[in-house]
Amino acid sequence: MRRKDVLDLDDFTVDELNEVLDTTEAMKEVLSRPIKRVPPLRGKTIVNCFFEASTRTRVSFELAAKNLSADVVNISASGSSVEKGESLVDTTRTLQALGADMVVMRHPHAGAPYLVARELDACVINAGDGWHAHPTQALLDLFTVRERLGSIEGRKVVIVGDVLHSRVARSNIWGFATLGAEVVLCGPPTLIPQGIETAVAEGLHRKMGNGVHKEHAAVRVQYDLDKACEDADVLMALRIQKERQAGGLFPSIREYSRLYGLTRERVAKAKFGTLVMHPGPMNEGIEIMPDVAHGPQSVIEDQVANGVAVRMALLYLIAGGQGGKV
Ligand code: NCD
Repeated sequence: MRRKDVLDLDDFTVDELNEVLDTTEAMKEVLSRPIKRVPPLRGKTIVNCFFEASTRTRVSFELAAKNLSADVVNISASGSSVEKGESLVDTTRTLQALGADMVVMRHPHAGAPYLVARELDACVINAGDGWHAHPTQALLDLFTVRERLGSIEGRKVVIVGDVLHSRVARSNIWGFATLGAEVVLCGPPTLIPQGIETAVAEGLHRKMGNGVHKEHAAVRVQYDLDKACEDADVLMALRIQKERQAGGLFPSIREYSRLYGLTRERVAKAKFGTLVMHPGPMNEGIEIMPDVAHGPQSVIEDQVANGVAVRMALLYLIAGGQGGKV
């Protein structure tokens, strides 16, 4: 893989995506060993900068880096010089001067990791920027679907909920569409970005030369969840992002849940063996019912577990795949 930074999946080619997914399989094998530590990143320093709340993404990056024998340092906004008013670029330049080879960054503002990536020689990995992108979540979702269903091309993937505020949805749209899935976005019209189908179609068109599968790559909007569920291979619910809502985008939680909650009845309309996914953290009883979240179709725990292997694969590939055999 020849890139310094991973900021979103919009510029990933089919080959790059497949390279990450194939390498993830090798990393899963490492994770099945009694001693889960391999040497490729020995001597490298990775700084996790999490300027926004996170459990699974932060821990997963930390474990991934440690499993590859890197040195890991964690910083958060509170307790760092950010609190004293230092600019983001200055803080990250300082980290680089202290020896950081890679910076993993989560930030409440869209675009923040792009700014840092432009200024630093160190690699920058976006662990979620505002509403914008969350490429490693999308990679672990792609991996989970490929592992469970054997393929992604031609699959119908329904993403339901607060698409407007979801960086997970945005990165997943690029990932799934690039690999030839049909992505159906579902939710109240106020939570589906206007014109998203055309924007994605244009973005994919630009990538065509890189081998995007023309026949299937498509994004559609379907406001009726019962219809969207028909023949679905994957049902992915998104969290209602209360902290990002100015309010008034849907009438009430109860109505939202009635119209857009994943229930057993809705899952039954999908294909036999459909996968139920959620990036977490879940609002159980709102966007997903507890019996669905913990039911037989749910792969939500696989998603979390695969997150470590996917991030190991990415860190390894970004570091140049050198420094020791996995
Ligand atoms: C998501 C996030 O933070 O973007 N969680 C995650 O990383 N797994 C989704 C969310 O907050 O709803």
